[in-house]
Formats: sequence, C-alpha cells, structure tokens
Amino acid sequence: MIYTTQESLKKALFEGRNTLNRTHENRIGFIPTMGALHKGHLSLVERAMEENDIMMVSIFVNPTQFNNCADLEKYPRNPEKDISALESITSDILIYLPQISEVYGENPVSDEYDFDGLDQVMEGEHRKGHFDGVATVLNKFFRTIKPDNAYFGEKDFQQLQIVKKLVDLENLPIRIVECPILREENGLAMSSRNERLTPRQFQDAAFIHKTLVEVREKFDTHSFAELNAIVAERFLLNPGINLEYFEIVNEDTLKTTDQKDPTVYYRAFIAAFVGEVRLIDNMSLN
Ligand code: PAJ
Repeated sequence: MIYTTQESLKKALFEGRNTLNRTHENRIGFIPTMGALHKGHLSLVERAMEENDIMMVSIFVNPTQFNNCADLEKYPRNPEKDISALESITSDILIYLPQISEVYGENPVSDEYDFDGLDQVMEGEHRKGHFDGVATVLNKFFRTIKPDNAYFGEKDFQQLQIVKKLVDLENLPIRIVECPILREENGLAMSSRNERLTPRQFQDAAFIHKTLVEVREKFDTHSFAELNAIVAERFLLNPGINLEYFEIVNEDTLKTTDQKDPTVYYRAFIAAFVGEVRLIDNMSLN
C-alpha cells in the first residue's frame, strides 16, 4: 500500500500494530530511502522481513541533505519502478511517498545537531550541512513512524554512525541495524548514482573497490603513511577517476591517528569522481 500523508500512514501503522498478531510481535521495520531502488536497498528490506511483521519503506529525495542544487535535480526518480520492485518481494509492505511540504511545511530547512565530530570529517567536510539534513529528515520520520528497528547500509558508513548517535541524543527507542554493502560483479558498490555512469565509466569505477581491497591486503604490513602514499599514486596514474579523499579512520570515532592501535577497528573510505558522478565506498580493514 502507498501512503502520501503522515495521517494516513499513522492510521495504517496503528491498525497494523493492533490487528495483527504475527511471528515478530507486530514489530515495525523501517527502511528509509531516496528511491531509485537497487538490490542494495532491497537487501535491507529482506533483512527487515526476517525480524518484523510490518515493513515500512520511505521514498523521499530529501532536499535539505543536498548542498548542490544540480545534484538534487539530477537525482534519479522513478517511483513506479520502485513500487513494483518493493511489491515484488513482499505484500506486507507500506510505502511512504510524501511531498516536500508534507515533511517540512513551507520551508525545508535543517535543524542543527552536535554529533561529537562524527559529522565534521569525510562526507561532512566535503558536503557542508549534509548530515544535519539527513538527521533532520530521519528524526521527523522516526517520530512519525515509531519503528522498532531501522535498517541502514554500511555503504554509507558515516551516515550509519551518525544515525546511531542521533537515536542516542534524541532518546529514541529504535534499534539501528547495519547491513553489508551489496556490490556489482566488478566490485563497484551498488548505488542509485551508478545509473548515471556510461558503460566505460562503470568499468573505470571498479577501481575504487580494487584499491580498497589492496589497502586491506596491505594493512598488516604497511603503516598509515605508506598506505596513503600507495593510494595517492594509484589514483594519480589513473586518468579515468579523480580522488576526492582517502581516509583510514577508527570505525567508532571516525578519527585518524598516526599509529595503529591493536584494540581499534579501522576502516578505509574513498570518495572519487568518475566523470561528473561522485561515488563513495568503504571497507573494514581488520
Ligand atoms: P539512499 O542513498 O537511498 O540509501 C538508502 C539506504 O540504502 C541507506 O541506508 C544506504 O546505506 C543503503 N544502501 C545504498 N546502497 C547500498 C548498497 N550497495 N548495499 C547496501 N546498502 C545500501 O541514504 C539515504 O538514501 C538517505 O541519506 C536517507 C537515509 C534515506 C535519508 O534521506
């Protein structure tokens, strides 16, 4: 079923919770998306189906998280295709497709959050205001939908850490479930933005994953400085792709350090442009 207003959605969720009595104690699993759904998104829905009776997917291209108007305009939109993809995996699904005014009223602006520095690095540094926009829309959705579980992909690992922090700061009783990255056969992380790549660029973009794999393989035997130098050189020699940043950070704090600490989990992150398309990816290193 498709819902476009908060009122109709709340009513459906209320009735769902009160009339069903199914395997998972009528739990609601929420999967927020911006549409242009691919198998990565659908894997989140499938994960949610294992743990909830009601699956709730939002499809909303959130204007406040784009700091670039052209990027917002170019974001692929295909709600009919999205709806049939979702309905092909389960009929127990509620789809929330609100208008901007339904979510924000007349003036779409972000609230300001303090995420203890998690939002100051990498995506936060290169896309100013991005995470305040993400947190603002999710906070609104969480309060309307009141899910038991909410599903996020490690594809956007920094977002995932910030969402955990948001739920903490706002004292929301929601379990945040992290789901692994789904990849194309050539290793490229699935993304709605991949639709904008030419076949040649699609091949070029696999270089991001290849580089992350090399970093993981060399992690035990090389210092951070050596790994940084290897990656910088690899990108310099590859004209098809422009590196925006490469970082190895502590998975929990998202901070960099000079020396390896054996008690810390590290993760490598890349943002790069293939033509005009900006892609991100990351990989756990230890
Ligand atoms: P969107 O980019 O549509 O992603 C929705 C969810 O799908 C996110 O949790 C993202 O990490 C996950 N996802 C995307 N590609 C994936 C892949 N290849 N494998 C696994 N999971 C993947 O992220 C957003 O939307 C927005 O910022 C949102 C949270 C909806 C707030 O507007």
